[in-house]
Amino acid sequence: PVDNNGAAYFDFRAADRVPESHAWTALNEEDSAPVVAAAAAPGDDAVPVVDMRDGDTSAVAVAARAAEEWGAFLLVGHGVPDDVLARAEEQAARLFALPAAAKARAARRPGGSSTGYGVPPYLLRYPKRMWAEGYTFPPAAVRDEFHRVWPDAGDDYHRFCAAMEEYDAAMRALGERLLAMFFKALGLAGDEVTGGETERKIRDTLTSTLHLNMYPKCPDPDRAIGLAAHTDSGFFTFILQSPVPGLQLLRRRPDRWVTVPAGTPRALIVVVGDLFHVLTNGRFHSVLHRAVVNWGSDRISMPYFLGPPADMKVAPLMASGSPPGSKAVYQAVTWPEYMVMREKLFGTNVSALTMIRVA
Ligand code: SIN
Ligand code: FE2
Repeated sequence: PVDNNGAAYFDFRAADRVPESHAWTALNEEDSAPVVAAAAAPGDDAVPVVDMRDGDTSAVAVAARAAEEWGAFLLVGHGVPDDVLARAEEQAARLFALPAAAKARAARRPGGSSTGYGVPPYLLRYPKRMWAEGYTFPPAAVRDEFHRVWPDAGDDYHRFCAAMEEYDAAMRALGERLLAMFFKALGLAGDEVTGGETERKIRDTLTSTLHLNMYPKCPDPDRAIGLAAHTDSGFFTFILQSPVPGLQLLRRRPDRWVTVPAGTPRALIVVVGDLFHVLTNGRFHSVLHRAVVNWGSDRISMPYFLGPPADMKVAPLMASGSPPGSKAVYQAVTWPEYMVMREKLFGTNVSALTMIRVA
């Protein structure tokens, strides 16, 4: 089968070696930074954990520090029921286990559609392919989209859609709660100048995209990559991952990749995106991250991206309590405008944030 971007769909299961087409080569200095195991005890390389049960003030403070210093953290005590997460992951696994021809029925449409099965358009710009299969869709469209996979609309179809709808509802509600925590941390909650109104507007217009990733086990994992280093472009992302590690976060000075532990049951990973960095006037860090593959097991991850609607100008929010004289360091930008800038800088290690930085 061929995906609709014209790239031959690769049969990972049949591969007993990594072919040239998938042999990853470093593009940037960051790609070659060493990998370190996450530290077990709190410290420099211990991925922060935010427990939402820890009482409001303490959780808010820990989340703020993690967002500033890491741009990512593990979120526990979030209240999303186990079975909702388990069903979502189980149904994603069932989707990827379907015969190639069934999956290809839902292929991305020609012209680089951002929705569907196969290689996302921006990944086709890399010189090599990733060791991954993926499916992207707006969760509200799940019933339409997956009708292409299951035209008979039978039990498998309904089970899949119901699981994605549940996951969507849970992630959206959690996104609104986390947004409220972030606004508190930033001193913007209920603020009469910017808070109340702005927070409500951002919360009520949040858009979401769900991406299902399957990283098949790989005969030569050091020669391949699941997903190349990138920052997320929107506000923030929740990632549900299999109990198989693979996600790595870049820490600076000296550059090193820290692997996010995968053993914490029900933990979700939160990743801060570029537009939230802008919204917080640079206070929250949008972290470079990537996914590696491994020899022994498949890995599934289900990033849920939250961001502004396409027509919203995202500009730094200044709290009324900001120090006098502080000013916005970024120009206002919409998500689509920002994506065009990112595209121009593709393949370099220059962040598109530099293009909207106020001189
Ligand atoms: C992503 O960055 O979109 C996916 C990361 C992961 O697979 O954990
Ligand atoms: Fe990402």
